[in-house]
Amino acid sequence: MNPFTGHNIALGKENTMGDSVMLLGDSNLWKSVKKTVELFYPGSPKENANYSVVDLGCLEGGYSVEFARMGFNTTGIEVRQDNIDKCNYVKQQLGLDNLKFVKDDVRNLKNHGRFDITLCYGLLYHLENPVAYLKTICENTNKLLVLHTHYANEHDFRYSLGALNNLYSPFEKRIKPLYTKRNYKLGRLTTNEGYRGRWYKEWNAGTSENKVSKMLWASHGNDKSFWLLKRDLMKALYAVGFDHVFEQANFIGDLAADNYIEYNDRSMIIAFKK
Ligand SMILES: C[S@@+](CC[C@H](N)C(=O)[O-])C[C@H]1O[C@@H](n2cnc3c(N)ncnc32)[C@H](O)[C@@H]1O
Repeated sequence: MNPFTGHNIALGKENTMGDSVMLLGDSNLWKSVKKTVELFYPGSPKENANYSVVDLGCLEGGYSVEFARMGFNTTGIEVRQDNIDKCNYVKQQLGLDNLKFVKDDVRNLKNHGRFDITLCYGLLYHLENPVAYLKTICENTNKLLVLHTHYANEHDFRYSLGALNNLYSPFEKRIKPLYTKRNYKLGRLTTNEGYRGRWYKEWNAGTSENKVSKMLWASHGNDKSFWLLKRDLMKALYAVGFDHVFEQANFIGDLAADNYIEYNDRSMIIAFKK
């Protein structure tokens, strides 16, 4: 099997990424999800067995494992064979009966049933039509969405430079005071699905399927993705049918640096239905 690329999971005798990398289960990234879920589902693992979770674009299954350890019936959906092989290896090693992985495009979410909790971590900003997908999520979620995602800014002069930003970007990196935000080389401010945001290039159009399948963290089936402005993302969450939306910041610290939210334009949003 190829080496694990992101999720260090404790398997008992060994960890998927060895001893020098923090375990996902010990990180604030996971603990922030867990603490939030416990606000809504404060029961014991036995009680949690009455509820279901879906982990969208689950990579190597680390978050799915932690949900299953909390007692939830958990399904991880992942499109790439390399990643799903690792998920299934983890499942086999842990022997958790309430954990399953399916190889599929997350756009087919509805084929896998309804879920009480949806985890959409590092996935929304890999989609071309994020608002349509938020609608799918909302229709398919009984209660809670935990969304960890990038968003775009309304004002960012670098993205108004167009192709010139490719020249500016390395220069900016060398002069520290200029480099306060990661440069994702997004496009100009525009509208998609009626909401404002910027396009992000995932890979060159026409890249072979075989090559794309080896980009283990990238989009699948779309060479560019739309990053909504944060305000538009919040609005869209209400528009698709969630009753409450708020931002959760417990994840900052350890794996994530203090300036993580501002530097990466990325945060954790919680949306739920009454
Ligand atoms: C940036 S990684 C995030 C992984 C994991 N959720 C995390 O936060 O650590 C994006 C993951 O989503 C998967 N992915 C991207 N587009 C997908 C799609 N349309 N359907 C299913 N999985 C997808 C990728 O293969 C990758 O595993």
